[in-house]
Amino acid sequence: MKSPHNRLFVVYPKTKPFDPNNLQTDFKAFKFVLKYRLLVGLNLVYFTFEGSKLANRPTGKLKNMNHLKITNLSKIYPNGVKALQQVSLDIPVGMFGLLGPNGAGKSTLMRTIATLQEPDEGIIQFGEFNTAENKMEIRKILGYLPQQYGLYPKVSAEVLLNHLAVLKGLTNKQERKEMVAALLEKTNLYRVRKQNLGGFSGGMKQRFGIAQALLTNPKLLIVDEPTAGLDPGERNRFYNILSEISEQTVVILSSHIVDDIKELCTNMAIINRGQVILSGKPQTLLKELEGKIYQKTIQKEERSNYHHHYQVLSEKLFLGNPIINILSETPPANGFTQVPATLEDVYFSNIEKNN
Ligand SMILES: Nc1ncnc2c1ncn2[C@@H]1O[C@H](COP(=O)(O)OP(=O)(O)OP(=O)(O)O)[C@@H](O)[C@H]1O
Ligand SMILES: [Mg+2]
Repeated sequence: MKSPHNRLFVVYPKTKPFDPNNLQTDFKAFKFVLKYRLLVGLNLVYFTFEGSKLANRPTGKLKNMNHLKITNLSKIYPNGVKALQQVSLDIPVGMFGLLGPNGAGKSTLMRTIATLQEPDEGIIQFGEFNTAENKMEIRKILGYLPQQYGLYPKVSAEVLLNHLAVLKGLTNKQERKEMVAALLEKTNLYRVRKQNLGGFSGGMKQRFGIAQALLTNPKLLIVDEPTAGLDPGERNRFYNILSEISEQTVVILSSHIVDDIKELCTNMAIINRGQVILSGKPQTLLKELEGKIYQKTIQKEERSNYHHHYQVLSEKLFLGNPIINILSETPPANGFTQVPATLEDVYFSNIEKNN
């Protein structure tokens, strides 16, 4: 595909299933021809790059890139799964946490916002613009870390990041070098930058994925379960990076770790079975449960009895005995102690209501 302006950055979604055996051939192609393939997600996403005048990657008419508005988004997969049902969300600059159980539709929503998947219905606007009608513009200012992705195993972190920076339009060699080095430093990969990605541990690969998502200072950053596989130190490090970026960027983060969302996100939503069941500020949502959460340590054999008589939200083991959290409008007798509500209580009480 050729652009009249000698600049093009095209993403062709999902044309071919993931095949790790093709990687070496692809890498040779990457070295010798001007058509490159980049793996993003378990599906191959092709980035085709032509021309060399991508300087400054002008974002053209995209302005006011400080607000993402999703209206009535729906998606039914060919197998009949309703992955998104009339999803509407307002997402301002800052960190937005997306919580939901497995299969809730989080990745589907994120891929759709990233313009890699078409919804059946609904509109996504970033600033003043409809993302479906401005895909190229959106992709220039997008950073996206998919939940699953593959990497070229026989290429070093530094080389691939540099290559991806070219594809993203950073043609100035010096600027590119500085950005690549800064991102490798930021994600704690500088020391291993010459090492081939095939020899990276799971956490290192994930950090590489984070580095590529941060290339060229995105205005919209979408990170799908970014901390899966990161050790606690790296997780904190990553969250510090995100929190800094989110001062000027719309950051959408999905996580299963409920407390991370509380610490980090100014706004959040819980989705279940493709529907938004709750959205708001974590502190406001917590207030609604204040004074209604009670806790008790019980014996294992009493579990089913308590589940039968109380609205049990969660259960944890402490020294081999279950500690249960229940939701109750009135103080239950029976040895329960009132405890401050946590976001986990908010999460479980709403998921339970919706099931
Ligand atoms: N390509 C597909 N074809 C058919 N069904 C799909 C496809 N992708 C996802 N689904 C289904 O859509 C629903 C939502 O999936 P999705 O991956 O968006 O959930 P998720 O919230 O990201 O889950 P997880 O927490 O496990 O990552 C699930 O029921 C899933 O099985
Ligand atoms: Mg997912």
